[in-house]
Amino acid sequence: MQADPQIAIYPGSFDPLTLGHDDIVRRALKLADGVLIAVAERATHAKQPMFPIDERVRMIEEVYADEPAIRVVPFSGLLVNFAREQGARLIVRGLRAVSDFEYEFQMALMNRSLWPEIEIIFMAPATSYTFLSSSLVREVASLGGDVSEFVPPTVLGCLVDRFGPDVAGL
Ligand code: PNS
Repeated sequence: MQADPQIAIYPGSFDPLTLGHDDIVRRALKLADGVLIAVAERATHAKQPMFPIDERVRMIEEVYADEPAIRVVPFSGLLVNFAREQGARLIVRGLRAVSDFEYEFQMALMNRSLWPEIEIIFMAPATSYTFLSSSLVREVASLGGDVSEFVPPTVLGCLVDRFGPDVAGL
């Protein structure tokens, strides 16, 4: 008998998606048959997002347009409810440094209290991305700094539209 495909949910606000996120997506694909990128309308600790949810989803869909094993779905409400609806029991989160650990561990244990069938795995990104975050990309781009090394070309295009050519080092 064939087992059901294992789908890993990779949740986040992705405001915007960075190459650090992309690194985790590709690592998760080695463990699961597919990765569902779950784009939170609003993150628990964040203020108003820079990119509206539709734009974040569209950008990420474009980044993975040629990758059938990667799906992008927006969600609001509890992550575990969304995971249950999607029939996925595995959540993947990236851990960049010890400073991420406390918040991530709390969320993992809360999510598991809410739905004991969920498993959460933490993945370490490539060393070169351990300092990278969406919030730093937002800040550097909004001040006209070059972020071309840190985001996929589609995302860079959206940042150029918003903040001008300096963010692409042009
Ligand atoms: O990219 P982020 O901001 O680190 O992602 C945080 C996210 C979206 C994974 C987290 O805020 C979340 O799961 N939000 C959905 C609401 C929820 O389930 N909250 C309880 C978490 S224990």
